[in-house]
Amino acid sequence: MHSSTQHSTMTQLDEREPLRSGGLGAPVSGDLLVEDAVPHHLWSSDDVQAVKMTHESPKTMTDRMAFGMVQLITGMFDVISGYARARKMGTLTASHWISRLVLLETLSNAAGATAALMRHFRSVRLLRRDYGWVHTLIEETENERMHLLVVLQLKQAGSFHRFLIIWLQLLYIAMISMTYMMSVRLCYRMIAYFEETAVTVYTTLLHDIDRGILWHETPAPLLAIKYWRLSDDATLRDVFLAIRADESRHRDVNHLLCNVSNNPEAKDPFLEPPGRSQAGVMLRR
Ligand SMILES: [Fe+2]
Ligand SMILES: [Fe+2]
Repeated sequence: MHSSTQHSTMTQLDEREPLRSGGLGAPVSGDLLVEDAVPHHLWSSDDVQAVKMTHESPKTMTDRMAFGMVQLITGMFDVISGYARARKMGTLTASHWISRLVLLETLSNAAGATAALMRHFRSVRLLRRDYGWVHTLIEETENERMHLLVVLQLKQAGSFHRFLIIWLQLLYIAMISMTYMMSVRLCYRMIAYFEETAVTVYTTLLHDIDRGILWHETPAPLLAIKYWRLSDDATLRDVFLAIRADESRHRDVNHLLCNVSNNPEAKDPFLEPPGRSQAGVMLRR
């Protein structure tokens, strides 16, 4: 499936690009970004290999609505990014993958942030504890932002991607906020199904890398090495393994949040003991 376009894209990507602020601004230091990062879960080599694509079958009308909406949105992504056509025609390039990931991660950023804010305001409004979920959702939000920043390290965002990011963010924040106000269950289930899709997307990408279609042995961006504490010789494949593990955690968090949404005293089992996530485990190849 190698094409000349793929070869030229891969040649460009073989050089580790200087760290940019989301690919849109002036270079920034990797150290600064890591010091600023919210403590987050770090993965061992065994963890990332153990990730499975799972699917929670829709059981209620709400679940079915959530699943249908996510299928519609992700199907539109594949058309807009040109991915579906390129996959079918055998002309897939790194650019198709980057467009697909930009769309996926832009929406993921809006979902986690909106849910975290909603829970925060509910806690303040009702003078009631949140039992840890706000922390986990904020970690998820930062995590998703890092996914997008890593993708934007691979290619300078052009006007098409900038336009998409801005408008998708606005539209999706409005959509997810309204969904949350109408039905908390629908909102969390939608996010969870979206995360299921993200695990599938990154699994497919890893298969493409392993088949040599793109990014084979491409060095990891410095931002990713710092954020996930990868070894200095880590490749993009290692980065996508860590991102897929993040997505599997988001999937499980949001399915559980949906299942316990009727219990205001449900505690967050994903909240880690202080210091655990900062210490983490070095991910080695
Ligand atoms: Fe993500
Ligand atoms: Fe995610």
